[in-house]
Amino acid sequence: MQQLKDLFIRRIYRRIYFFIRWLFFEKPFGLDFHSRDLSVRCQSGGRNSGYVSCPKSFLKDIFSRLSIDSQSSFLDVGCGKGFVLVCAAKMPFGKIEGIDIVSEFVEVAQKNLSILHLDDRIRVTVGDATLFDRYGEFDHIFLYNPFPAEIMSGFIHRLLESLDKSPRGLTVIYANPVCHSLFMEVGRFEIIHEVPNFLTQHKAYIYTVR
Ligand SMILES: C[S@@+](CC[C@H](N)C(=O)[O-])C[C@H]1O[C@@H](n2cnc3c(N)ncnc32)[C@H](O)[C@@H]1O
Repeated sequence: MQQLKDLFIRRIYRRIYFFIRWLFFEKPFGLDFHSRDLSVRCQSGGRNSGYVSCPKSFLKDIFSRLSIDSQSSFLDVGCGKGFVLVCAAKMPFGKIEGIDIVSEFVEVAQKNLSILHLDDRIRVTVGDATLFDRYGEFDHIFLYNPFPAEIMSGFIHRLLESLDKSPRGLTVIYANPVCHSLFMEVGRFEIIHEVPNFLTQHKAYIYTVR
């Protein structure tokens, strides 16, 4: 009973948070980070987890655990409408990019970045995470539960290939880590932080990679 009550309270808080974000941040500037679009999940037959926006409080807690300087680079794999990228721009990353497989989301992200005058600093492109061939250019990779296990395996394989080709300090941030066991199975990822979030009730794992 208490669990149900907690779930209900969190849901109300989440709605209030996204409403306030829309009212005071999105609407006045003509931005669209609208928080939920699960239609792509149905269209893709479950190969795409759908679009859900990561709340700012979660990102703040995650970023506070990273050591970032102007040499650091950040890639949001499955960037959706670009909210994570906008928050990443407050950190001293030298390079910030996002890719998403859904071109409509990338168009919205590009419009958002242009409204916020961040289009010079951040690049977003349409791309499939399992085919992307520039992982070697990034040392911080962010994922917010973008895809299910069969796609995640392909992504992990590609990421490790990039690390073997360009050895570097690599940090992977995985929020709502439903495929965490796949990362553990390959034996090259080590959890350095676990970050909880009250609003979403999700956690994020921050891994270092060998
Ligand atoms: C849960 S949303 C996260 C959006 C954003 N990162 C955030 O936290 O606000 C996951 C995104 O991953 C994208 N996605 C799913 N499969 C993908 C793939 N194979 N390659 C690239 N992006 C993908 C979806 O289209 C969706 O926009």
